[in-house]
Amino acid sequence: MAGIDYSSLIPNNVSLHENRRLQRALEDWQPKFLEWWQDMGPLGFQAKETYLRTAVSVDAKGWAQFDYVRMPEYRWGIFLAEPEPGRQVNFGDHKGQPAWQEVPGEYRGTLRRLIVTQGDTEPASVEQQRHLGRTCPSLYDLRNIFQVNVEEGRHLWAMVYLLDAHFGRDGREESEALLQRRSGDADKPRILGAFNEKTPDWLSFFMFCFFTDRDGKYQLASLAESGFDPLSRTCRFMLTEEAHHMFVGEAGIMRIVQRACELMREHKSDDLRKHGGIDLPTIQRYLNFHCSVSLDLFGSEISTNAANFYTLGLKGRFEETKKTDDHLLKQATYPVAELDGERIVTRDEPALVSLNERLRDDYVADCARGVARWNEVIRKHGIDFELTLPHRAFHRAIGSFAEVRVAPDGRIVSQAEWDARHRDWLPTEDDKEYIQSLMQPVVEPGKFASWIAPPARGVNGLAVDFEYVRLG
Ligand SMILES: [Fe+2]
Ligand SMILES: [Fe+2]
Repeated sequence: MAGIDYSSLIPNNVSLHENRRLQRALEDWQPKFLEWWQDMGPLGFQAKETYLRTAVSVDAKGWAQFDYVRMPEYRWGIFLAEPEPGRQVNFGDHKGQPAWQEVPGEYRGTLRRLIVTQGDTEPASVEQQRHLGRTCPSLYDLRNIFQVNVEEGRHLWAMVYLLDAHFGRDGREESEALLQRRSGDADKPRILGAFNEKTPDWLSFFMFCFFTDRDGKYQLASLAESGFDPLSRTCRFMLTEEAHHMFVGEAGIMRIVQRACELMREHKSDDLRKHGGIDLPTIQRYLNFHCSVSLDLFGSEISTNAANFYTLGLKGRFEETKKTDDHLLKQATYPVAELDGERIVTRDEPALVSLNERLRDDYVADCARGVARWNEVIRKHGIDFELTLPHRAFHRAIGSFAEVRVAPDGRIVSQAEWDARHRDWLPTEDDKEYIQSLMQPVVEPGKFASWIAPPARGVNGLAVDFEYVRLG
């Protein structure tokens, strides 16, 4: 079961050949996906051989194989984690019942919406990143972004499989629509705000992987708890791939921070723009932006939708089954940050409607661990500077803080103070222009752009100067 059937047109470990109707639906969708990939996937590199990882089995060890492949020939397919024998619905009103192998009729609409919303983010990020190959800081980084891109393409396959297998004609229509929306398009935008933002440069890309992909990790982790077993198994396998995206983001920023520190020491100056580096305050402003738009993805602090998803057994908490409470939460409360006139206060709210905020808390704690590792690099260089996460109320467009202006330190400020100070807090036109000026491609094996340090090691035990993408 763990093995993947690569002999069929669509690689899979779900015995696709036994379900002709589904097989035909997916084989009909496959050329449309490839057309989308050609139109919206990485621009200018489709014919180049790239050293990529392909999943060959879903068990814990040895599920990946590395080799050169041209991206359009990547074996996208359908891979679910192994079933857990006797798995039950582990929370909500159906707690203790056997996990569902088919969608409970009354939950069809709700579940479809959840799957479509997750699925829409996958192609969106590929679209956002499609121009970045042309300005890569190294072949190593070029390979990494392509790895992320093909895996996001596979995540789209994962969601389309669920839609086609379990939602009949509605599902097939949604599968088509996932290929028709476009990131940033005024007429047919992607569903969520952060996935319509531009990713115009590599600093933004690494921040996106660190902050926005990490939202994906937390959404997938709570969907992996779902009582709808095929969704749970799909998400569990996606999470193994997602871990690499987190790594690309965290390690990318860490290398930029390291380079900044090296340049500061070498030139005994904070002004790195003369020396082709990215100064720490600029990194902080990009961090503030990407963190705040990613916090919005978790939705409103108080949400009856979130309560319903939980009560119906569709979407759990992060690490639901590791928690030792009643998994019903009808009597429980949860502390939620709220606006109270001119102040931000914390109040206990019913736990069920606070589930978005709880997931956001798990996410913020995870982000903070990464930021601490970046600060460790700065500290080791003996430099007196600390990167910080902005307050959760800063620069929000969704939830109760959307209506006020808040400084990164959590102070509510007047519009006048915001107007006077926001250039210190968010990337300015100047910053963007400077970062753009750094985006010159470096494609000689083992060479790196001036603003980023080489990684400590290469991919899959290979040297840093390995030819990860054959451009010749
Ligand atoms: Fe993904
Ligand atoms: Fe991802």
